[in-house]
Amino acid sequence: MSDPTKNGSEAIAGAMHHVVSTFHVLAVAEPTTARKLSQILGPFGYRLQIANSGAEAVQSIADEAPEVVIISGTLPRQEGFSLLRTLRTSRATEELPVMFLADSSADQEVRAYQLGAEDVCSGATSEVAIRARLRVLLRMAAYRRRLGNEKRRLELKVADRTRELFEITIATVAALEKATELSDQETGQHMIRVASYSACIADQMNIGSELVDKIRLYAPLHDVGKVGVRHEILKKEGILTRAEFEEMKQHTLYGHELLAAARADIVARNIALSHHERVDGSGYPHGLSGDRIPIEARIVAAADVFDALTTRRRYKDAMSPDDALLMITVELAGRFDPSVSQAIRQRYPDMLDILHSYS
Ligand SMILES: [Fe+2]
Ligand SMILES: [Fe+2]
Repeated sequence: MSDPTKNGSEAIAGAMHHVVSTFHVLAVAEPTTARKLSQILGPFGYRLQIANSGAEAVQSIADEAPEVVIISGTLPRQEGFSLLRTLRTSRATEELPVMFLADSSADQEVRAYQLGAEDVCSGATSEVAIRARLRVLLRMAAYRRRLGNEKRRLELKVADRTRELFEITIATVAALEKATELSDQETGQHMIRVASYSACIADQMNIGSELVDKIRLYAPLHDVGKVGVRHEILKKEGILTRAEFEEMKQHTLYGHELLAAARADIVARNIALSHHERVDGSGYPHGLSGDRIPIEARIVAAADVFDALTTRRRYKDAMSPDDALLMITVELAGRFDPSVSQAIRQRYPDMLDILHSYS
């Protein structure tokens, strides 16, 4: 670590460092090397902290993390290497830049790199080079810190936005339910039952509690697109003409459009768009089949039909729940996802509870 010529430009750079910052460097070394490092770095504006052992270093880092750690290979009992290993295997310090001062053996140099030191200097490295390489590590540490801060900021922003969307959706569903209840009590109950049936089926299918919650929340939106269908078609007594039925089918596309414009969750959009698709491909609007239909839509489709069958409408009587179960799982089995049908069979007692609670 000889420094015969003190380079002029480096002295200026050092002086600038002195003005703009005090970089916190922890040197872990026995007293002789520590003194030498003080001489090399001291005049250049570094805040040099000394630890004489690995244990002391770990404590010092826990108290206040430095920007760079310099570890000397001349510490007794290979302590430098065990400290390096400790730093690299702890979550809090795995990215802390480490410069290792190896003795002249190539062995130490290789070992230090293998254990994850960012840089290794030796007795042959000039003082100027040590300072220059230290500056590279400090710059790297600064970039890492900046990236970390930016990442945290973005994560917070995403979490905020998600919560906001969730709240807007809840408010929309609540407002919609209220509005429909005012005009048509039956429809309000239908939405609540379809949400409960869907959540019950989803829960049985082990698709994760987050998706179950979303399905419960968004199932009531399945027919939101009906606001775009003419009133006389919605309220028509008797069978729709072909043209009227074509117009009625559009409610799936309207609903999807509406929710997409509101930037609603993809689960909500999928339910609105695909709750009339059938796994045999005979549904609408796109004639999707099998698992090309999103699972949330396959679930709500079955729940919607089960509810339609078991409730009285202006134009038909209610079917018994046992017959409805038979209809979905046997007679019309081809239309529904077999694993959804199985879940309905398994949770049939809960389905009956829901039917009796909300009618
Ligand atoms: Fe619908
Ligand atoms: Fe419905």
